[in-house]
Amino acid sequence: MDAALARLLTSSQALALLDAMPPYSRDSAESIGRELRAGGVAPELVAAVLTQSRLRADAGVKFGDFAAGMLFTQDGLEQATRLPIAARHAQRYRAAGIHEVADLTCGIGADAMAAAALGLDVTAFEIDEATALVADHNLRHWDGARVVHADALDVVSQMEVGGIFADPARRNARGRRHDPRDSSPALDAVLALRERTPAVGVKVGPAIPHDAVPDGAEAEWVSVDGSVVEAGLWCGPLATTVGHAALVIRDNGAQRLTGSTDHAEPSALTEYLYEPDGAVIRAGLVGELANRLGAGTLDPTIAYLAAPAPVTTPFARGYRVLEAMPLKTKVLAGALRARGVGTVDIKKRGVDVTPEQLRPQLKLRGDERATVVLTRIAGRRTALIVQPL
Ligand SMILES: C[S@@+](CC[C@H](N)C(=O)[O-])C[C@H]1O[C@@H](n2cnc3c(N)ncnc32)[C@H](O)[C@@H]1O
Repeated sequence: MDAALARLLTSSQALALLDAMPPYSRDSAESIGRELRAGGVAPELVAAVLTQSRLRADAGVKFGDFAAGMLFTQDGLEQATRLPIAARHAQRYRAAGIHEVADLTCGIGADAMAAAALGLDVTAFEIDEATALVADHNLRHWDGARVVHADALDVVSQMEVGGIFADPARRNARGRRHDPRDSSPALDAVLALRERTPAVGVKVGPAIPHDAVPDGAEAEWVSVDGSVVEAGLWCGPLATTVGHAALVIRDNGAQRLTGSTDHAEPSALTEYLYEPDGAVIRAGLVGELANRLGAGTLDPTIAYLAAPAPVTTPFARGYRVLEAMPLKTKVLAGALRARGVGTVDIKKRGVDVTPEQLRPQLKLRGDERATVVLTRIAGRRTALIVQPL
């Protein structure tokens, strides 16, 4: 989106049109567009309003009912922090007794909105003019929030703020960038601000290498419904624990695992198998989890755990092992057919099998459904037929 389009969208005519739109549906978008154009609305405004209507519908996943009052850019929505996680970011500043925050990279403003909603004064920087205009609209309800269209690094070092937050852009025209030094602004430049303002928090990609976590900081990996969505680096008073943490968010709440050991005892195959949540794996806390579950690793390099008894944990998915066999297509096919299995969910770790290729080779028929885990146990390629707990 360019700045002229963003200005058009924030005009009262566009906002009134947008608020009058029925819930978005791809089927009706074309006919609504025709009607609006026939009614004399400029074609570029019609296109912009229809796009916003679609983005608002998509944004429900991250913003719930708030989406209906917000504006978006496509990139800005994709990169935005989900509101419940943004609220957790903001809460760290409030808990540290901080009242003013500089958000160096506000995007469409999700993190800044959450901070403002918690009563913090927020100066939200955005280098892209159209995105800054959109953020300005999204932050309109909060007197304590202001958006500045500028390169934050040019300005922030002259500001007196209690805390700094950054969510550097991790993609360019060629796609996502995984090296934090390659983000915009670069991680090192943001962390250097700690010299004047110790309370610096940075949202980074979950693939951040452990050696990029600054000494004395907390690194928290976050998953939502089993997918790892981000890691947060929390420095100075924002750290609630020094070291690594995994925050696992599901519909029924959020649970945090902290600890320091990645070492787990080896174990033979037992009746129960646990697949740690991705946030636990990324945080290097598989050993910590294993110790808590009384479990051990089936292979030192693979994050599957074996436990002798069923345990309830938010940090791993559990399975009862029904049958184990060498990972050979014929053997597995025979075992599944004997169980009348026609549909199979295949999970794999540590073996180079492509489930999409294996599935048709099994030539399954039958009404039953089963879950199969393909992995290595003490170095041997193994197939397990399991039942989710
Ligand atoms: C990942 S997005 C931020 C998303 C935001 N936290 C949210 O939840 O909506 C990063 C944003 O930083 C902006 N940006 C990158 N470098 C910047 C800089 N030096 N100063 C200000 N903004 C910058 C990009 O234009 C982009 O919109």
